[in-house]
Amino acid sequence: MAEIFLKNAWYCAGWDHMVHQGRKSIVARKIAGVRVVLYRKPDGGMVALEDRCPHRQAALSLGRKEGDSLRCMYHGMKFRSDGVCEEIPGQDTIPEKACVRAFPVVEKDNWIWVWMGDPAKADPNLICFSVGPGEKGWNLKTSQMHVETNYRWEIENLADLSHLTWVHEKTVGGDPAYGQIRPKYQITPRGLNTIFWVRSVDPTGAVSHLFPPGTKLDICFDIQHTVPCNWIMRFRAFTAGTATEGESNGKLVVDTWTCQTVTPCDEDSVDYYYSWGCSDSTEFPGMSNLLGGTLDEAFTEDKIMLEAQHVRRKEEPNRKLINIGHDAGPGKMLWVLDKLIREEAGGMPTQQGVTA
Ligand code: FES
Ligand SMILES: [Fe+2]
Repeated sequence: MAEIFLKNAWYCAGWDHMVHQGRKSIVARKIAGVRVVLYRKPDGGMVALEDRCPHRQAALSLGRKEGDSLRCMYHGMKFRSDGVCEEIPGQDTIPEKACVRAFPVVEKDNWIWVWMGDPAKADPNLICFSVGPGEKGWNLKTSQMHVETNYRWEIENLADLSHLTWVHEKTVGGDPAYGQIRPKYQITPRGLNTIFWVRSVDPTGAVSHLFPPGTKLDICFDIQHTVPCNWIMRFRAFTAGTATEGESNGKLVVDTWTCQTVTPCDEDSVDYYYSWGCSDSTEFPGMSNLLGGTLDEAFTEDKIMLEAQHVRRKEEPNRKLINIGHDAGPGKMLWVLDKLIREEAGGMPTQQGVTA
């Protein structure tokens, strides 16, 4: 089967608070098919090792932190934070191969990023732009969700927001205008920028009670999507103005960022980490909390749709699918991903997969 994961990429392993200094804070993840264990050293530095002891494949995530090191609690082999074995109980010699793969790991914007490819190519500048929940001037609320789907279906989902009309009828969408969007796309070396406006729409269901009856909004969606599946959106809502192109001439009501990353665990599941919230200057009581909670609801709606879809796509993987206009964004984003995967595998990039 063709490789479906890009190796030379930073994958999010969660929010920084998920791996803390507690004795038992040894966190197991599966990232792009590889088991990873995360823990912090006493100085706070993050360690990412393969979660698989080289002796008998015990889970190192069932191990014990000892200073900077991690001890396998099956037969007691102890590994340094660089993966080198420093102790084998009952013997003095340590075989050269008795080591664990160590992954480059960086914390940025309150996310933990693990590089799953060649360590020599682990350039922190390739970590996606985002706005962390600790960012001054913003009130982003964080959450996470596990979804039993293939991450490519998540890419399709996030690269085509026409589904807001249908999947998110009661939460973050509903207005028929979302089903009519004609986004502007710009392919980037590692992703896709997308921008579109919807004009004169009702406030979405989750927040509609906060606005006077009859309120109409102009909303700008400005998205940076990068591989493997990082999705960062500036979402601004204005009272509906008269502009039909470009910036709204209405009054800015909420200025928000939502920062989302979908990490494939394997071919059949993903871990999704996300945030949403307002700028200080457009915050009003409870709004950021409401937006954060609304994402949990909205992504449960996506989860139901994506999991049922995944079951069907696995049942009939070779069934020919039809394309519609809204597939342009997903087609472009998947084209960029597949091009990078092919290049990594030494293949020549082709135009295959470009839909528009
Ligand atoms: S399996 Fe880890 S020490 Fe034996
Ligand atoms: Fe959605």
